[in-house]
Order: sequence, then structure tokens, then C-alpha cells
Amino acid sequence: MAITAIKGFNDILSSESSRWHYIEQSARRVFELNGFGEIRVPIMEKTDLFCRSIGDATDIVEKEMYSFTDKGENSVTLRPEGTAGVMRAFIEHKLYAQDPVNKLYYLGPMFRYERPQKGRYRQFHQIGAEITGVSDPLADAQVLNMLVHFFREIGLDEPVLQVNSLGCPDCRPAYRTALCEFLEKRHESLCADCKRRLSTNPLRTLDCKVPGCVEATAGAPSVLDHLCGECEQHFESVRNYLAISATPYTINSRMVRGLDYYTRTTFEMVTGLLGSQSAVAAGGRYDGLISQLGGPTLPGIGFAIGLERVALLLGQRDFLGTPDLFIATMGSVERDTAFRLMDGLLKSGVRVEIDYEGKSLKSQMRRADKLKVRYSVVLGENEVNSGKAIFKRMSDGAIVESALVVEEVVKTLMH
Ligand code: HAM
Repeated sequence: MAITAIKGFNDILSSESSRWHYIEQSARRVFELNGFGEIRVPIMEKTDLFCRSIGDATDIVEKEMYSFTDKGENSVTLRPEGTAGVMRAFIEHKLYAQDPVNKLYYLGPMFRYERPQKGRYRQFHQIGAEITGVSDPLADAQVLNMLVHFFREIGLDEPVLQVNSLGCPDCRPAYRTALCEFLEKRHESLCADCKRRLSTNPLRTLDCKVPGCVEATAGAPSVLDHLCGECEQHFESVRNYLAISATPYTINSRMVRGLDYYTRTTFEMVTGLLGSQSAVAAGGRYDGLISQLGGPTLPGIGFAIGLERVALLLGQRDFLGTPDLFIATMGSVERDTAFRLMDGLLKSGVRVEIDYEGKSLKSQMRRADKLKVRYSVVLGENEVNSGKAIFKRMSDGAIVESALVVEEVVKTLMH
């Protein structure tokens, strides 16, 4: 029996990769415009890094990590997300020494042992961006605008921005207590997971999709009513900047994130088109993470975009474009001329397709149609002898005669 790929691990076929390139190139363009530079970090890190940053009581650390002991008896983990590794590198290479403000972006595969379904995979890809060293709410707004700009750039206006604030270590405990008191009264209606979460990670109950929990948490206290003065001012200021840039968003005070490092601003780009996998991108501020990982006390904020989900939203559009010319040949004698012409045109940046198999003219033209080429030309003995041929524009059948000289053909194809 043939060996198949691991469940939840996908091949990205060449028919899909032009869409991926389009997404990646658009992200690079928008991020670099904003002054972000690419950082490439390993896809595997010491397990401890993720436990310490994402949090022991999160679903990711509790049940989704690809962790194993390597041959040197070290516990290592395939990265479930990018922020932890980027901050580890930031600290390890003292990137803050010259300037605490670093704007970094990354892209690549991430791994989570989740139940695969449309838009949710075990190997998936993120494009992420992080700013360190800025606590000013202006950075929050710039990051949010950059994310919205990216979606506009690729032509998607559907995912909408939802924003929340999760407070800080000063004000969150009081909110946690208020939420727990509320939930204790509805203890019986909660699912087994949420009953457990009450003592480990009560905020996550707000994110539970089980109908009983959705109902039980419907009137839960809002985190936004429990922010301390400074967090409230920060959130107000982020909203003010978003108003200045006329960035559309809604506030979702029930948005809690699946990673523990967040403080203050959190956000998601949400779509209704991918079933239950509604977040196409997500992120937030993590002012305590860098020091928690042994680095200096510096704030940070960033996000990650789920590439597979964006590709799904873009649908079947082909971003590669179509070939400029199909060269058909009548017999084997013309193949030297055809090859010479193709070689010269390719070197001039013209996309050329040719028949490889000595097929009949009819089947060559069928292939030209299928490839949706812009022009076709048939080379027979006459054309080879005269050094001229008829180029046919496929969209309307218009024909132009041109010398079989690269520069002339290039000119002809420009029309
Ligand atoms: P996250 O919300 O866990 O955040 O993931 C970000 C995005 O990755 C999600 O919105 C989703 O589009 C995509 N994603 C997550 N899991 C899967 C999966 N199993 N299959 C397909 N796509 C998935 C983070 O990872 C944070 N590191 C984001 C961040 C950066 N926060 C601050 N800086």
C-alpha cells in the first residue's frame, strides 16, 4: 500500500502555490512598508519555552503540542506558534541592546495536535509580526492598521476586526474573581472542561462553544468594566487612534485568547465564511512576556495570520497568470527553430509553452486552449524557410505576421 501524508498535514500543490505566493508577497510588502524586517527562527524549540510563555493551563500546552524526547534526552517541541521563538531569539541575541524597538516578521509552519477540519490542520502556516519596546497605544493602532491594510491589499474586505482589552496583572485578578463568582452560581450548567477551567483558566469559559456554557455565560461580567485606570486609558487611546485612521472595528468583550501571555489589547480578524474556524488572524499585547522569558522588562505587541484560512477565503483564483505564447510545430524538422525561439523568448521574460510529445496539431491547439495562452503560433516548413509566422491572439482570433526574431516577437506579443 502506498504511504500517505500524516493526518492534518497537507501538501500545497503547484496549482495552489501561486495563491500562497500572492499572500506571502502582499504581507512582505505591507510589513516592510511599515519598517518590519524578517526574522527566521527554528521550527523546534525546548519544550520549556512554550510552557513558560503560552501557559501550562492552555489547550495548546495541555493537549496540542508535538513534544518528544530527542536522542540526547532533551524535551523538544515543534513550535505551536511563532511569538515565543521570536522573543527567545530577541533575548538571546540581545536585539534590544542598540534599540529596544524592534519590528520583526516571520512566516512558516506551526504544529498543533488539534482535530483536523476545514481551516484547522495539524501543520498550518502563519505570517506573524511583532513590535517590541513600545508601550504607547500608537503601536497597537499601527499593528492593527497594518493587519487591516494587508487584508485590503489582497482584496479581502470580509474579515472584520474585533478588539478587546484583557487588562493587566493589576486588574485581571479582580475580574477573574468576579467571573468565577458569576460562574459558580451556574456551575451545574457548565461542561466538564469548563468546570475544570474554573480553577485553572476561567476566562476560557467565555470561549467555550458547548451550548450549555454559551447560555450559562451569556450575562457574565465584562472584562472592560474591570479595567484599572491605566488599562482603561490605554484602551481609550487605542480606540482614539483607530478613529483617527478611520479603521472599522467592533468591540468584543467576550474575546479571550488561547494563549496566556496577553495583556491589554487583544484582537482577531473574524470571518463568517469558514464555519467554526472564524479567526483568520489574531494577536495582542504581551507586556510581561519578554521579562518572563528572562529578558529585560520590555513590552511587545503583534499578531499572526493563518495562511491556510486566508487561502481558503481567496478561493480558487489563480494568481500565476497565463502563458504569453504557445508554439505549435507541424513536424520534427521545425523543432530546432521552435526551441531556439522559445529559448530566446524565455530569456527575455516571455512565458512560452511548447508541445513536448510530438502530438497532432489538433491536440497541440487543444493544449494551448486549456493553458489559456494569450497567443499561439504554428511553425511549419514554410515558416521555417521564410523566417516569418502568423501569431494568433486567442481572445479574438486577431492575427499578426511577425519575423521569427525574438525582439520582433516580443513586440508582437505586447499587443
Ligand atoms: P493564535 O490565535 O493561536 O495566535 O493563532 C493565530 C492564527 O493562526 C489564528 O487566527 C488562525 O488563523 C491560525 N491558526 C491557528 N491554529 C490553526 C490551525 N490548527 N490550523 C489552521 N490555522 C490555525 C498565535 O499564534 C499568536 N502567536 C499570535 C500573536 C502574535 N500574538 C502576538 N503576536
